[in-house]
Amino acid sequence: MKVLRLISVVSFSASGVYGWGASGHQAVGYVAMQFLAPNALSFVKSSLGSTYSQSLGPAATWADEIKSNSAYSWASELHYVDAEDNPPSSCSVSQSRDCASGKCILTAIANYTTRVVDTGLSAAQRQEALKFLDHVLCEFILRYQFLAEALGGNDISVKCSGSTTNLHSFWDSGIINKLLAACYGNSVTTWANTLATRIKSGAYASSASSWISCSSTTAAAKRSIEDDISDFLRPRAITPLQCPLVWAQDSNKFDCSYVFTYTKFADLCTTSYYSNAIPIVETQIAKQGYRLAAWLNVLFDGSIDLP
Ligand SMILES: *[C@@H]1O[C@H](CO)[C@@H](O)[C@H](O)[C@H]1NC(C)=O
Repeated sequence: MKVLRLISVVSFSASGVYGWGASGHQAVGYVAMQFLAPNALSFVKSSLGSTYSQSLGPAATWADEIKSNSAYSWASELHYVDAEDNPPSSCSVSQSRDCASGKCILTAIANYTTRVVDTGLSAAQRQEALKFLDHVLCEFILRYQFLAEALGGNDISVKCSGSTTNLHSFWDSGIINKLLAACYGNSVTTWANTLATRIKSGAYASSASSWISCSSTTAAAKRSIEDDISDFLRPRAITPLQCPLVWAQDSNKFDCSYVFTYTKFADLCTTSYYSNAIPIVETQIAKQGYRLAAWLNVLFDGSIDLP
């Protein structure tokens, strides 16, 4: 049964505004900025320019902002892949099954990976590719959307600090909203800097190298981002990218292991469901920033080049 999808942090939030979902994306972009190798950094700065303060942080929400622009209506499917989940027993992502139309987040990553380094394209086209990558490589945070038909048109209603919300926006924005206020003075950059420091010399330092490995238990061969990108960009290559799929599978696992362990009718923001969700959200944001930097470093500098 198709129940869940991995989906954009913002697109289906109940309010429809670019609020906290945007903060999650921006944090990923700001984390990535701290790990860019010289050529990647110089491309990012010159391509994004003053419009985006030369930073992947502010540019990370562009792909959500254009959703209301009819010229970009074709791009709405690029934000997610329909995962096939039946929590808590099975959660999985398969490119051939879940992206059969050839238009989903996985193909978007492939398309914009090619385009961002294509010197035959205009500066505007390459900036568009960079902004899509900035956004979609961060999409694998933790998210899901109940397909309307699976639940008679209703999302799962839950409470956060007394207000009624739904499970999707709790993960998109409720948790991050509360966390930023409680621990980071409502500053996305303070949050991102804290996460980057944990990667460089703190709690995440020992696991960071495993975050950018793309080996999976189901895939035949061990792969690195370098293998993935060099095989993919070879002329007339037909090898699909493996890393984004492995990363999608990594995020999707949380649907089974944690997201659906909530207690019905409980206030999720005042219970252990919230406190146990924090390390998941923070690790996922840090991971995605690190992966985004690694991806751009391989593309522009030829190697991962990370601490
Ligand atoms: C690749 O990106 C370009 C530019 O945004 C878009 O026009 C095209 O449809 C995309 N191709 C695929 C296969 O997604």
